[in-house]
Amino acid sequence: MTNKLTIPLPNDMHIHFREGILLDFAVNATAKNFHHAIAMPNLKDPITSYSKAINYYDQIQKISRFKHFEPLVTLYLTMTLMEEDIRLSAQDNRIIGAKLYPAGVTTNSEKGVSDLQACYKILELMEKYQLPLLIHGEVANKEIDIFDREKLFIDELIKITSMFPALKVIFEHISTKDAVQFIEASSINVAATITPQHMILNRNDLLSGGLKPHHYCLPVLKREEHRIAVANAAVSGNAKFFLGTDSAPHPRSQKESSCGCAGIFSAIGALEIYLQYFEAENAIDNFENFAVHNSCAFYGLKPSDKKITFEKSDYIIPAAFTIENHELIPLMADQTISWKILNEL
Ligand code: DOR
Ligand code: ZN
Repeated sequence: MTNKLTIPLPNDMHIHFREGILLDFAVNATAKNFHHAIAMPNLKDPITSYSKAINYYDQIQKISRFKHFEPLVTLYLTMTLMEEDIRLSAQDNRIIGAKLYPAGVTTNSEKGVSDLQACYKILELMEKYQLPLLIHGEVANKEIDIFDREKLFIDELIKITSMFPALKVIFEHISTKDAVQFIEASSINVAATITPQHMILNRNDLLSGGLKPHHYCLPVLKREEHRIAVANAAVSGNAKFFLGTDSAPHPRSQKESSCGCAGIFSAIGALEIYLQYFEAENAIDNFENFAVHNSCAFYGLKPSDKKITFEKSDYIIPAAFTIENHELIPLMADQTISWKILNEL
């Protein structure tokens, strides 16, 4: 039996670092154990230009206490994104892509895209300059059942990937078997991130036996058959799937509310949770590719020469974290995981 596992520092290809008082805690929770992390641009004042992206990068870089950590930032795609911002971003290795939020689909997405066809001109430029497109793949139409929103977005993805075949497209935080099948059938320019929550939880974990606001995220957790398909894709060894936690800190008071916000904080604990799942599925040999090499190969990044070691022993995920007057409740709070991170970097 394997008791220790050493791999290059992993990459988190989808994370929310936020702004203001949460930024320091959120950045350093990730920076400690990761090489790269892609910071999402859906701040209260979204990152809608090249200069805002560099400014956000500088803030993250400055606040990080870990030399090995190399953050990456994204542009927030709006209908008015300028060619010059796309060109400059594509040529700057601190900026990894532009994130498309259908307007209204999730937190701070109001300034996102309300008409996908109308932004094809922008996608054409992104293809020309080779700037990857990261997508929150759900339809924003409020009349559509929330459990169907990802599946129905696949029609849009089929159009985008066939019209712009050289554009790199990342279907973020997939949550359905339909998304898995779409990725498997797509070209090598199309990939997906997978979160820990979409691997280990289904909608009963959100809704049955009492509402669990700390399991509420978007895309919302689905039926067990979807969880199985997503988890199987993650452990399969298929290079089109890679680690992206979608760790999204929200203060406890805003999660435990009559209108609780979407997002699960997993920056602390996610690696151990993923690894425990890979081991349970007899797929530990595929963990390094999922956590490191698949994303490096897709985005053209170099794996870190720093390593992280996991040891087979109990680790209890903290029950909560306090940041000034806010509390954050992590995924699997106060639960025991059978792997822990050994080396304190
Ligand atoms: O659960 C989520 N939280 N899903 C998203 O798409 C956004 C994120 C956030 O920004 O909090
Ligand atoms: Zn996200």
